[in-house]
Amino acid sequence: MSDQAPIRAGVAGFPIQHSLSPLIHREWLKRAGVDGRYDRIEIPPGYESFQQAADDLRRKGYAGLNVTLPHKENALRYADEADSTTSRAGAANTLVFSAAGVKAYNTDVSGFALSLKAAGAVVSEQSRALVLGAGGAARGVAAALSDLGCGSIMLANRTLEKAEAIAASIPSATTLAWDRRDAALGDIDILVNATSLGMSGERPLEISLSALPKSAVVADIVYTPLKTALLADAEQHGLQTMDGLSMLMHQAAPGFEMWFGEQPVVDDALRELLVTALNHRGPA
Ligand code: ATR
Repeated sequence: MSDQAPIRAGVAGFPIQHSLSPLIHREWLKRAGVDGRYDRIEIPPGYESFQQAADDLRRKGYAGLNVTLPHKENALRYADEADSTTSRAGAANTLVFSAAGVKAYNTDVSGFALSLKAAGAVVSEQSRALVLGAGGAARGVAAALSDLGCGSIMLANRTLEKAEAIAASIPSATTLAWDRRDAALGDIDILVNATSLGMSGERPLEISLSALPKSAVVADIVYTPLKTALLADAEQHGLQTMDGLSMLMHQAAPGFEMWFGEQPVVDDALRELLVTALNHRGPA
C-alpha cells in the first residue's frame, strides 16, 4: 500500500455550491482507481482573495485548480505562464501547480471545439458562425471557432462595443448589431448562444430560427435548463444541437489528466450522472 498523500485538486469560485465539476472529477477518480480528492473551494470575489487562497492551496500541496466565475481573469493573472490560446482568451479555467510555478490553461476553448465536433459540426474556411454575446464565454467560443479555422465569425451583442473589442483580437471576426441577429441567419452554419439569456431565472433569448439552413448546428452554453428554449426550437426545426453539458464535460478532461495522470473518458454514463444531478436540483 502506498503511504503517499492523495493528489488534491478542486474547483474555485463564488458561489461554488452548485458546481458540477466535483461530480465529474470524482466519477473519473473512481473509474481510474486513483487516490485523489477534488474539492469545492469558495473564494470571495477580488484578486487579493484569489491570490491568498491559491497561495494557501499550493502550500497545502494541491496539484491545481479549476477556476470558475468570478475568478477566470484572476487565475490568468496569478499564473506564471499561459499558452497562446489562454492569453488570447484573456481568462483561464484550469491551473496546474508545480515546483516550477503555475501554468494556466483555458480548456473552455478546447472543450467547446471538441463538443462542437461531437455534435457533428464540420468547421472549415467556408463556415460561417454567429456568436451571440460578448462576455468571457463568448470570447472563448470565438477563440475556439478561430482555432478550428472557421472562415467567418460574427459577434452580435446588446452592447456592441464589447463585441468590437473581441473582434479586434480575432482575425476572422466581425460584429453585428444585436437587433440584426434574425436577419443574419440565412447563411449561418453554426449559431452559438454565449449570453446568459435562456438560463433559469433569466430572460428568454428572442430569436427566430426559421431562416437557418437545415444543415446548421445550434449550440447553447447554458445548461440550466439542459434543453433551453433555443435548443428545443432548433430540434423542432430539425437542426443538429449541442448543449452546455457537453462543453462542461469536455472542458474538465485536460485538468484531470494533468493533475491525476490518467486520461478520462467523456461518455453517456457521465452525462447521465450529471443529468440526474441537474434533475434533482429543481428550479434555480
Ligand atoms: P460570461 O463571462 O459568462 O460570458 P457576462 O460577461 O456577464 O458572462 O456576459 C453575459 C452576456 O449576456 C453578455 O454578452 C450580455 O450582453 P451585454 O454585454 O450587453 O451585457 C448578455 N446579456 C445579458 N443579459 C442580456 C439581455 N437582457 N439582453 C441581451 N443580452 C444580454
